[in-house]
Amino acid sequence: MTQDALKVAAAERALTFVEPGMRLGLGTGSTTAKFVDALGRKVAAGLDVLCVATSEATQMQAEKLGIPMSTLDETPFLDLTVDGADELDGELRLIKGGGGALLREKIVATASGRMIVIADASKKVDTLGAFPLPLEVVTFGLTATRNMISALAADVGCEGEIKVRMQADGSPFRTDSGNLILDCHFGQIEDPEELDEALKLVPGVIENGLFIGIADLAIIAAPDGVLLIGAEDDDLL
Ligand code: 5RP
Repeated sequence: MTQDALKVAAAERALTFVEPGMRLGLGTGSTTAKFVDALGRKVAAGLDVLCVATSEATQMQAEKLGIPMSTLDETPFLDLTVDGADELDGELRLIKGGGGALLREKIVATASGRMIVIADASKKVDTLGAFPLPLEVVTFGLTATRNMISALAADVGCEGEIKVRMQADGSPFRTDSGNLILDCHFGQIEDPEELDEALKLVPGVIENGLFIGIADLAIIAAPDGVLLIGAEDDDLL
């Protein structure tokens, strides 16, 4: 089974949690794109939903498929968000932001009653951190911001290179909100909660890619089947 087929399997399983009339948050990335494709087919067949996108790319995809779209200002509470992840652990802690959409993704996910993460099995890890942690930061004072991140992260045992994300043409990557991304190569993050708290103290950091206590269910597709990870008392399971 290809990685693409696994992404489709996770996306299609997520679709079984969508009910008529739901207000949905649509994540960003190649796995979510499979979900949006599948949702588009359901909408074409008559499913009634209203969606909010976490990025301009997802907005464009959904509009092309004829999915009814809203904004978070018009629809500030959503029933369910479906999104991908760069890494997730057994406690449903995530690293997100590989696509640079972490700020809007976190705003939309926390405005939702539920968040389902969809991923192929390569994303499941024992300890977060092999994937560099993305931070969305303001341009002003970048060097001071980077120094403060480095010092506060070191206090909680996280050290490593912190790189401004660049594009192929050599210019800095800009998020949909016009900010920069710093990719933090910390390696294993032994205490994600502590790192999250430390990063919140840096004024130039708008948001970090650790999603802790936000996801309710993970749908992980492996060649031998689809695994669901969620709180045992969660009625999504
Ligand atoms: C974008 C994200 C994505 O969800 C994450 O990068 C996973 O993407 P993909 O499904 O393409 O592997 O956080 O900011």
